[in-house]
Amino acid sequence: MANALIDSNQVSVITGATSGIGRVAAEILAERGDTVVLVGRNPERGRIAVEQIRAETGNRRLSFIAADLARLSEVHRLATTIRERHSRLNVLINNAGALFPQRTETADGLEKTFALNHMAYFLLSNLLVEPLAQGGSARVINVASTAHQNALLDFNDLQLRHGYRGWTAYKRSKLANILFTREFSRRHHGKRIIAASLHPGFIASRFGDETGGLFQVMFGLAKRLFAESQAIGGERVASLAAGPLPITVGYYANNKLVSPSAAAQSDGDAARLWEISLELCHRWME
Ligand SMILES: NC(=O)c1ccc[n+]([C@@H]2O[C@H](COP(=O)([O-])OP(=O)(O)OC[C@H]3O[C@@H](n4cnc5c(N)ncnc54)[C@H](OP(=O)(O)O)[C@@H]3O)[C@@H](O)[C@H]2O)c1
Repeated sequence: MANALIDSNQVSVITGATSGIGRVAAEILAERGDTVVLVGRNPERGRIAVEQIRAETGNRRLSFIAADLARLSEVHRLATTIRERHSRLNVLINNAGALFPQRTETADGLEKTFALNHMAYFLLSNLLVEPLAQGGSARVINVASTAHQNALLDFNDLQLRHGYRGWTAYKRSKLANILFTREFSRRHHGKRIIAASLHPGFIASRFGDETGGLFQVMFGLAKRLFAESQAIGGERVASLAAGPLPITVGYYANNKLVSPSAAAQSDGDAARLWEISLELCHRWME
């Protein structure tokens, strides 16, 4: 297996690659022979993921970059490092995400769910547009969720300063993923970058395991009873990112192009969210 590995000549970046859906997707991309940049916040977990994937696939073109994606400065540093190492990218998978039961703010003054689940996707994708455009029909895959379905963005309180609930913040961030994908596609149309978002399925990953309280108990039980495997979730992400099917701009669930909620199809909201996001990170946009 190891000796037969062919260089696919594709360069892929995936965030949240140390665990769950992202870890599996990284391995599938490595199996097809990509140069894979794994991103996560914990260097030790990153080292282990790279070593294991190397051993499984024989692919030596793997690297890990540690970055806390809840911090804009870290997203910027990550993008700078990637651009220094790779003049061209074929795949960017924005996958790292979490749910936080208590409201906290990052050093940038952003509510943490919004910062990690939305702003990191926004800033990293924008900072990598140039190498993606060099990739020739590159793909940006944004891992969203069906949890967006009954969410609405409150533009007067995007940071949920009032009435914070972890699940509400999470649902809104996943709606933001789909709106961001929509606007990103519109703005970068013509650069041969296809952006798509997806629901990976209800997956038995570590997601929700550190939330504590009733949410963790109920979510853990639901995972044991109903969730699909990490392998299935990772496969869905990887197949959108790497084929074999051609993909189009849009939102996918179970690898099928489907309509997201009405709120997720609002061009007005997508443009408004873009402008606000840009304003929030403008000093990191170069
Ligand atoms: N599981 C589901 O049922 C489900 C359903 C729909 C959508 N999703 C979405 O799928 C994506 C992946 O989730 P998962 O289920 O695979 O969860 P997971 O097993 O908890 O993996 C999350 C990944 O994100 C990384 N991460 C978390 N915070 C980070 C930070 N501040 N900076 C950098 N990396 C960070 C984690 O790193 P560590 O290894 O250091 O923790 C881990 O690699 C998320 O966007 C989630 O919203 C999941």
